[in-house]
Amino acid sequence: MANILVFDSGVGGLSIAAALNESLPQHTLFFVSDNAAYPYGTKQETELVPRVIHVLEKMLDILQVDIIVVACNTASTVALPVLRERLSVEVVGVVPAIKPAAKISQTRQLGVLATPATVKRQYTQELIDSFAADCQVALLGSSELVELSEQKLHQGNISSERLTDIIKPWLSQECFIDTIVLACTHFPLLKKELNHVFMQHNKNIQWVDSAASIAKRVSFLLAERADEQLSPREYNNRAIFTAEQEFSSGFMQHLNQLNIVDVVCTPL
Ligand code: DGL
Repeated sequence: MANILVFDSGVGGLSIAAALNESLPQHTLFFVSDNAAYPYGTKQETELVPRVIHVLEKMLDILQVDIIVVACNTASTVALPVLRERLSVEVVGVVPAIKPAAKISQTRQLGVLATPATVKRQYTQELIDSFAADCQVALLGSSELVELSEQKLHQGNISSERLTDIIKPWLSQECFIDTIVLACTHFPLLKKELNHVFMQHNKNIQWVDSAASIAKRVSFLLAERADEQLSPREYNNRAIFTAEQEFSSGFMQHLNQLNIVDVVCTPL
C-alpha cells in the first residue's frame, strides 16, 4: 500500500486523480489543491516555484506520503528539478503530452492547449524540438479556459460562445491541426465541449492528455518499490485545500467518485 499525493492549483488535479484512483484503487489518495494561490498559469516563475515548494513541504510535514504527483503542467514544466532536489519523496510530473501526439498525427500539425505560462516555457519548446520536430506545432495559452474548466465543474455548464472564441484560430478551414494536446490538467474537464465545437466546424480532432500515462508511471514506480515498507492503508482518501473552498454539488460529485471521505482546509 502507498499514500499518493496529487497536487494542483485547482480542480485540474481531478483528471489525474481519477486515472490514479481507477488503476490503483488499493492506495490512499491525498488530493491537494492550492486554491489559495490559484491560478498558477498567470504567475511569474519567481513567484510560482517558491510557492509550490512551500505548499509541498508543508504537506510533507503533516502527511505521510510515498509519492507526489505534480498534476499541473504549469508547475511541472518549471519546478520539477528543484522539487526533486528539495523533497525527500519521489516526484512525478505532468508535462505536455507532445510525444504521443506526434506519434498519431496524420497531418503533422499539432495544437497544444495550455496556460499562458506553459506555452512560454523552455521545457515545452524542448519537448517540441525533441519529439515533434517534423510537425508544425501551434501553441495556444489561455487562462480563460482554466476559469471555464473551474466553472464547468462547479456550475455544470459553460458558454460555448466563449469556448468558440478562444479556439477560433484553429477552427478555420485553412487550419489542418488533427491532434490537440490538453497540456493543462484542467482541460480534460472540457474535452466534450471542446470536441463539440470542433465537430460543428466539421473537424475530427484526436485529443491527447497525460492522465493514463501518469497512472501507468506511478503504478510502475510503486511496483519497483514492492520490497520497501510503504505506508499502510490507515487513512481515507482525503482532499486538502489551502484556502476555504465552496463545495458545489458538481465538485462533491467528483470528490465522491474518488472515494474522498475527508475534506480539510489547511490555510497556507
Ligand atoms: N492545472 C494547471 C496546469 O496543468 C494550471 C491551472 C492554473 O492554475 O492556471 O497547468
